[in-house]
Amino acid sequence: MRKDTRLTTAGRAPEDNHGIVNPPVYHASTVTFPSVAALRDSQRHSLDSIHYGRFGTPTTRAFEEAVAALEGGTRCISMPSGLAAIAGALTALVKTGDHLLITDSVYFPTRRFCAEVLSRFGVEITYYDPRIGAGIADWIRPETVAVFTESPGSLSFEVQDLPAIAEAAHAAGALVLLDNTWSAGYYLAPFTLGVDVSIQAATKFIVGHSDAMLGTITAADESLYRRLKAAVSLSGVCAGPDDCYLGLRGLRSLAPRLARHQATGLAVAEWLDGCPEVAAVLHPALPSFADHALWARDFTGACGLFGVVFEETVSGGARDAFLDALELFGLGYSWGGYESLAIPTNPAAVRSATAWPYRGPSVRLHLGLDDPEDLKADLQAGLAALRQAA
Ligand SMILES: Cc1ncc(COP(=O)(O)O)c(C=O)c1O
Repeated sequence: MRKDTRLTTAGRAPEDNHGIVNPPVYHASTVTFPSVAALRDSQRHSLDSIHYGRFGTPTTRAFEEAVAALEGGTRCISMPSGLAAIAGALTALVKTGDHLLITDSVYFPTRRFCAEVLSRFGVEITYYDPRIGAGIADWIRPETVAVFTESPGSLSFEVQDLPAIAEAAHAAGALVLLDNTWSAGYYLAPFTLGVDVSIQAATKFIVGHSDAMLGTITAADESLYRRLKAAVSLSGVCAGPDDCYLGLRGLRSLAPRLARHQATGLAVAEWLDGCPEVAAVLHPALPSFADHALWARDFTGACGLFGVVFEETVSGGARDAFLDALELFGLGYSWGGYESLAIPTNPAAVRSATAWPYRGPSVRLHLGLDDPEDLKADLQAGLAALRQAA
């Protein structure tokens, strides 16, 4: 079955539900059993059975099945947010004395979780150049248990050479984790590139409507899934059934939404690339972007999230005037919804292993499902305000 058909069919069983197309939302804490023997049996298979709300319901399982089918993984674990998925996966896989390698382009709250939680438990963290590729081998120590990747980085957009990183990591017995949110699991097949655990903030494109927090951890194989699921279950973390339902509903329209985000994003990125106030457009699908060849090798498309760096002559105040003048772009965190968003960014401030090569102020844009010409007109008004303030 091809990917778009997997998206419309996975996790559905109308024949079990009066023929109704979508799975119902099961709200559950308690699950009752007809006998002591049945109750005990459910405990013996506690990672798989429906026996208590925290371990999952048919709704959460349907969502997980669909995400695993989308990403090509064995099984998926739904989590209450993308950050919970990152924290849950890392916590499941490390112990005191272990060493983690994390890309310098990582989402800042991942870095903060490592610094403020994992470090407290005696896990050592080293940040590496996202463009390191096979050179990651030089950074791996005997106690390195995992290499965390995020590709492209969601602020700076470097694309990572995942197969090269995976080869080096696996040769040393380390796992590779990927924050796969930018591709939505649709434009990158993580497990064919050697990734062991693919994590998404399903809050973004999968939910797609900016109305739910949701995360996913998808594992390459069953034993890794069981290790992750056991640890997540022990910590009591679980995604809510309504949010899983929204995630599942979002998956059904993911392909055409992403196609539109991609087309608008690329058209606007190309146009911005030619504007005199713009020093660089950080969009992996632009041939002018440094990692374009790597993106073209491993990805089948691009979402509508990218960065814009203004010329050094543009002040921070002029950048803010650009943002304040926007009317269609909301100023707000997150991305992946139908609405367009913009934020000021400062990638230099959230790196520790590599230098940020640009000196001008920057923004991040998420191109939503609005008419591309209206978005362009809005950005043109923003640029006029920027020129006036400069
Ligand atoms: C790349 C990336 N990963 C993870 C997250 C965290 O997701 P959530 O907001 O669902 O916790 C975000 C949120 O912005 C993100 O941009």
